[in-house]
Amino acid sequence: MTQFNGRTVNRIVILTGAGVSAESGLATFRDSDGLWEKHDPMDIATPEAFARDPDLVYRFYNARRNQLKSVSPNVAHRSLARLQAEFPGEVFLVTQNVDDLHERGGSVQVCHMHGELNSVLCKACSSAIRTSKDIDGHSTCPECGGSGKLRPDIVWFGEIPYHMGKIERRLETCDLFIAVGTSGVVYPAAGFVQGALLAGAMTVEVNREVSEVTGSFHQQRQGLATDQVRNLVEELLAD
Ligand code: APR
Repeated sequence: MTQFNGRTVNRIVILTGAGVSAESGLATFRDSDGLWEKHDPMDIATPEAFARDPDLVYRFYNARRNQLKSVSPNVAHRSLARLQAEFPGEVFLVTQNVDDLHERGGSVQVCHMHGELNSVLCKACSSAIRTSKDIDGHSTCPECGGSGKLRPDIVWFGEIPYHMGKIERRLETCDLFIAVGTSGVVYPAAGFVQGALLAGAMTVEVNREVSEVTGSFHQQRQGLATDQVRNLVEELLAD
């Protein structure tokens, strides 16, 4: 039985955001050098923006997909993978991130609620295709052969995140909820801590600075994800 701050912990839910990949060299969204400082999300990350200027959207996500080839997972990614592998109970990892650094850090069954850069959707046959290549308005779907029907497999503003049923079931039964590197601005992810609190779980926030929902957490671990996540995992595996 794992004890953590005087509580028995068997089921852990971990939510990550862009901050967990920042030290790998991937920009976050809302920090001073963040993506949404350089691009208006309403021009890039909505179905309307894609209809209005698909080439701008293709270029944005192609560039982010290509960048994945030049970055590597960091200690925070690897520590979470270690927790998944060694924790005697259950560890459910849900991420808002569309990068592949959790998987490359060794994590399994990563729940990508906002989609993935290395996946594209065909609007003709609804297939989700794994790819690390650029796509554009002429690209051909390898499943149905249709051309010009591919879009980034990213959950845009105004669209419903993936796997919500599974995530809610896990929140309802968790003993410990940990949020890492997320600003708590975007819902439904920012509301997960409330779901965990309703379930009677202990809640811990790991973030470089105060977030929009810091007040909802029993514990704040302020600092870099690489340091704080490594220490937290050490504590959870210490028993
Ligand atoms: N270690 C820990 N926390 C960090 C680090 C770091 N090295 N670097 C940045 N942070 C924190 C920031 O302080 C900020 O609170 O990570 C958070 C990143 O916040 P956002 O940029 O808002 O990213 P995120 O919360 O993941 O965004 C949520 O918004 O734009 C949409 O769909 C997109 O999934 C994304 C969602």
